[in-house]
Amino acid sequence: MKNFSKSILKWYDANKRGLPWRETKNPYFIWLSEVILQQTRVEQGRAYYLKFVKQFPTVASLARAKEDEVLKLWQGLGYYSRGRNLHAAAQQIVKINPSAKNYFPSSYDELIRLKGVGEYTAAAIASIAFGEAKAVVDGNVFRVLSRVFGIASAIDTASGKKEFQRLAENLLDKNHPGDHNQALMELGALVCKPKNPNCNTCPCSRFCVAHKGANPQDFPVKLKKTKVRTRYFYYFIFKSAGKILLRKRTNAKDIWMGLHDFPLLESDTQFQTDVILKKAMREFSLTKNDFVIKKVSSTHKHVLSHQILFATFFHLQLKKSFKKQMKDVIVVEENKIAEFALPRLIGRYLHGSD
Ligand code: ADE
Repeated sequence: MKNFSKSILKWYDANKRGLPWRETKNPYFIWLSEVILQQTRVEQGRAYYLKFVKQFPTVASLARAKEDEVLKLWQGLGYYSRGRNLHAAAQQIVKINPSAKNYFPSSYDELIRLKGVGEYTAAAIASIAFGEAKAVVDGNVFRVLSRVFGIASAIDTASGKKEFQRLAENLLDKNHPGDHNQALMELGALVCKPKNPNCNTCPCSRFCVAHKGANPQDFPVKLKKTKVRTRYFYYFIFKSAGKILLRKRTNAKDIWMGLHDFPLLESDTQFQTDVILKKAMREFSLTKNDFVIKKVSSTHKHVLSHQILFATFFHLQLKKSFKKQMKDVIVVEENKIAEFALPRLIGRYLHGSD
């Protein structure tokens, strides 16, 4: 056990990546980095982090922002409830202590009360920014610990999670909790990788159970396979006199709440183009004479963590100006679309476009 923490700390000192959030103890910045890193890899996360720090240099400035501004900056990271929670938590923080300039909660117990801050994020901020002895457990930690200690308990069960949490707490170097946690995650990201771990450069291979058994790929163990849902999206890009219809997504239970896309027909099976067009005319109250079909795109596959989307875009030029307003729809100048927070699928389509 002692060996473990010593080995990873020594390795971390020599091999850690130089990252902007590792040069600060500002808990607000560290919070931003940790929330972003739950969404993306370090290389891409760095750019988002720098954008956020620049646009919202203090928690008060983030709290003052409009939700749309935050979502616009979050665009491309996915899982937009995380972006919304970030914003809501900033407002919560300012409310807790409105008079103190740059106040930020300074312990695990206070942090965990914030919106969107769970055990992982609270432990990461508390250990890295305040040196509080809290162990983090994320995907990297599950992988490293299950391999090094040969633990076959399933990580998607309550008892398995508890077991890993307890082990992580026992292993934690209480004098260097921030570096210890980051060393464990960094090792998981750079060496103890999911597919092809670099055991020959690993500081733990001497005592790693999975390395001895030559089966690191068998860890960590998961009970259930995640179910993937397939959805077919048929988007309608209505244009009239240089204007275009955007729709704000408002269903909190679905993906992309708060973002803008286009009027949509959705199905869990694939349909022929002419069938979809007939359905669209009914849905959007159009007759044959109301529009011209300018283009029907190829099918664009878009993979999310638990869903696969197949999107087709119908470009329809309306002969008259927009009349009846559909639900949650807004009329926008065509060249102003980029000002809205768009799902990555839509952004990619508009930029690439076939
Ligand atoms: N993944 C998430 N947070 C991290 C951190 N602070 N260091 C390394 N990997 C991480």
